[in-house]
Amino acid sequence: MEVIVQPDAQAMCLLAAQFIVELVRRKPHCVLGLATGSTPIPLYNELIRQHCEAGLDFYGVTTFNLDEYYPIAPTHPQSYRRFMNERLFDHVNIRRERTHVPDGLASEVAAECANYEARIKEAGGLDLQVLGVGTNGHIGFNEPGASLCGPTHLAVLTERTIHNNARFFDGAEAVPKLALTMGIGTILASRHCVLLANGKHKRDAIALLVEGPLTAQCPASALQLHPRATVIVEEDAAGKLTRREYYDHVQQMLARPKEGWRNGVKR
Ligand code: GLP
Repeated sequence: MEVIVQPDAQAMCLLAAQFIVELVRRKPHCVLGLATGSTPIPLYNELIRQHCEAGLDFYGVTTFNLDEYYPIAPTHPQSYRRFMNERLFDHVNIRRERTHVPDGLASEVAAECANYEARIKEAGGLDLQVLGVGTNGHIGFNEPGASLCGPTHLAVLTERTIHNNARFFDGAEAVPKLALTMGIGTILASRHCVLLANGKHKRDAIALLVEGPLTAQCPASALQLHPRATVIVEEDAAGKLTRREYYDHVQQMLARPKEGWRNGVKR
């Protein structure tokens, strides 16, 4: 797992955007896994800027979102489909039929989940999955206790998640109690996972996911099993990492590998 600490949330999102920009340029038909929440908003703003000012071309790109509330209409102001349309898709030249968000109104939930998995496979699998993290360590809506290898499924939200997300709704009562979410197995099958977190309220979750034991009680810790997981945080979210010096050292070494290898140790 690579841990990169940036000075602030903007720098964190710009770095995450660089990974995506580089991927889209290198592989114009790439498959992106996307996340909602407040954390990646500056990332999407940067992608829009890159599209408008630097011609970043989304025409061939396919996207799959991590999750969607259930039940919820796609037109609901808090639906993740609407979030993605308003925050990214409406502003770039992606083909709408290539953007996928689980159907929050699916009548056959099991079929919708199986179909979502099938569509990801058909598209060639996820090249890069963007992730946020809940204060309880959830990724997507994989709450503590979720299977660490499961597929897309119907998840029951915890009280804590409902409470955290109540700010976007007219109070906790209005938050859907269920969600359709990629499973951790789906996420781990992605070729590159990029997890972002900012703010002091995320520091416990970040410490647990990076340095804690691999446990379903912190679903994000499953990223420890991933061959290419990049955790990008800012100073506040990094506040409880005990091996910070080492993570910075790794970044220095990777920035100048030949010199680093020759000298052996950090100067
Ligand atoms: C939501 C989403 C997650 C997201 C998390 C953090 O519940 N299902 O995918 O990562 O909460 O949200 P925020 O970025 O607003 O802190």
